[in-house]
Amino acid sequence: MSIETPALHPDANWWRQAAVYQIYPRSFADANRDGLGDLPGVTSRMGYLSELGIDAIWLSPFYPSALADGGYDVDDHRNVDPRLGSLADFDAMVASAHAADIRIIVDIVPNHSSNRHVWFQEALASAPGSAARARYHFLDGLGDDGARPPSDWPSHFGGGAWTRVVEQAGPNAGKPGQWYLHLFAPEQPDFNWDHPEVRADFHTTLRFWADRGVDGFRVDVAHALVKDMSLPLRSKPALAVLVDDGTDPLFDRDAVHEVFAGWRAVLNEYNPPRTAVAEAWVPFTDRRLKYAQPTGLGQAFNFDLLQAPFVAAEFRAIVQKCLAEAAGSGASSTWVFSNHDVIRHPSRYALPDGSTEDDLEAWLLADGEAPAADLARGLRRARAATLFMLGLPGSAYLYQGEELGLFEVADLPQASLQDPTWFRTKHKVKGRDGCRVPLPWDATAENFGFGGTPWLPQPAWFADNAVTVQDGVAGSTLELYRVALRWRRKLQCDESLAWLSAPRDTLTHYRRPNGWEVLTNFGDAPTPLPAGVDSATVVLSSGAPWAAGACIPAETTLWLAP
Ligand code: BGC
Repeated sequence: MSIETPALHPDANWWRQAAVYQIYPRSFADANRDGLGDLPGVTSRMGYLSELGIDAIWLSPFYPSALADGGYDVDDHRNVDPRLGSLADFDAMVASAHAADIRIIVDIVPNHSSNRHVWFQEALASAPGSAARARYHFLDGLGDDGARPPSDWPSHFGGGAWTRVVEQAGPNAGKPGQWYLHLFAPEQPDFNWDHPEVRADFHTTLRFWADRGVDGFRVDVAHALVKDMSLPLRSKPALAVLVDDGTDPLFDRDAVHEVFAGWRAVLNEYNPPRTAVAEAWVPFTDRRLKYAQPTGLGQAFNFDLLQAPFVAAEFRAIVQKCLAEAAGSGASSTWVFSNHDVIRHPSRYALPDGSTEDDLEAWLLADGEAPAADLARGLRRARAATLFMLGLPGSAYLYQGEELGLFEVADLPQASLQDPTWFRTKHKVKGRDGCRVPLPWDATAENFGFGGTPWLPQPAWFADNAVTVQDGVAGSTLELYRVALRWRRKLQCDESLAWLSAPRDTLTHYRRPNGWEVLTNFGDAPTPLPAGVDSATVVLSSGAPWAAGACIPAETTLWLAP
């Protein structure tokens, strides 16, 4: 029997072509003016979100946390950080979102807890070999005195993936003892997903939020849960090198899909079934689509467009590949250019063509001063890329602030940086704070209307991007998003498209089954409309207002109504 809950009306397919807006709660809006964004802040901006035209909000973690990793170090998966509000505030936020016809997706962080989680505290206080330790990965070290970590595995934020504890119980109390595994910061111990209590506890967590009316879940590092911990541990000196055939000791192991089949059964207890989208950074192979199949989580992120240069042939190839992948899994495709983990896309596109990930990191480390970024070009391309993407079949994932055309804040004062990457790499990699700076709502208000003194300082140029400056101004990035999201509802139909012929090196041109067309000029020179395209049908341009009979400006997308 399915459970009727206060979720939005029972359209089981609402997610397939939804526009989902990611809120990083600590940086969105600060109702109690303590400098950290909060849930009442989200509720207070529901009118803004509704006017923007989104279908759902994805909330990054809002759980109790010491913020060692911006909230992805969760103390209690079934509560609200008191600095961000209460469960009652959460319920009020869900009710207000649903009243505005907006669904709520919450972030679930199953790979690890925080080191303050009651289970981890219990594990630390218990002796090696105890039941409490078995919920995590505790092992003896190597060498006669156990002083070497159990394996050479690095952690994602720099440094090793093992931390040694001082025993609190047993014959070695007071002495250095076992090591525990953390693929991320030491404050994020990895759960042992072979343990039945861990599996059962996450079913409880899913039901806890689904019962409160949550419509879906974003699943953090979904590909990492199940690990091969058989001894001796295998060597893996670089995390990024993923042997993607199921044999990697840490990632994308076949058994992870048993976990998600169990989750799917829980999610399907509800009417409509709760959705889930996997964050699984695995390469494009048939393996990736398993996360998205209906017997699993149901949808998976692909980060291909996010990682691609602004090049027609690349965008087109990615779309073809991802639509085929989606068709193969039964899910709809996902599209994303920005999120809380990456440099905002107008800045990425502003850097010299051919810049690599290492170049981007070096640019951040140089406070965004070298190489010189062409910001006007970056924003022009970002707007074109967004319109290209919003016309596609599938779910569009947007990150707060991109509708304001925000750039990365590359020159945050070093003393303000909080990302564990900055500390764990001994200041060699700056990390992700630059895309997490609290939003500018009002150009002239204190702290740009965010609330109290923001936990990351806002640069003076945020005034130019504030909501008050763009609201109602035709052609502003905010109005472009609003108009596009409104049109998008008309444009969505069957999840397919047809490519129309276009010079492959500069232009893409596709048509949706209901006749809408999307034309993008990726080149840096204007180009004529393709033969047979009626200039009078252009209803939206990512660049200057469309003038009938004109060429498509450089780095611009047009939407053509049937
Ligand atoms: C999240 C990150 C987080 C990491 C560890 C991710 O992939 O998106 O922000 O640091 O998981 O939880």
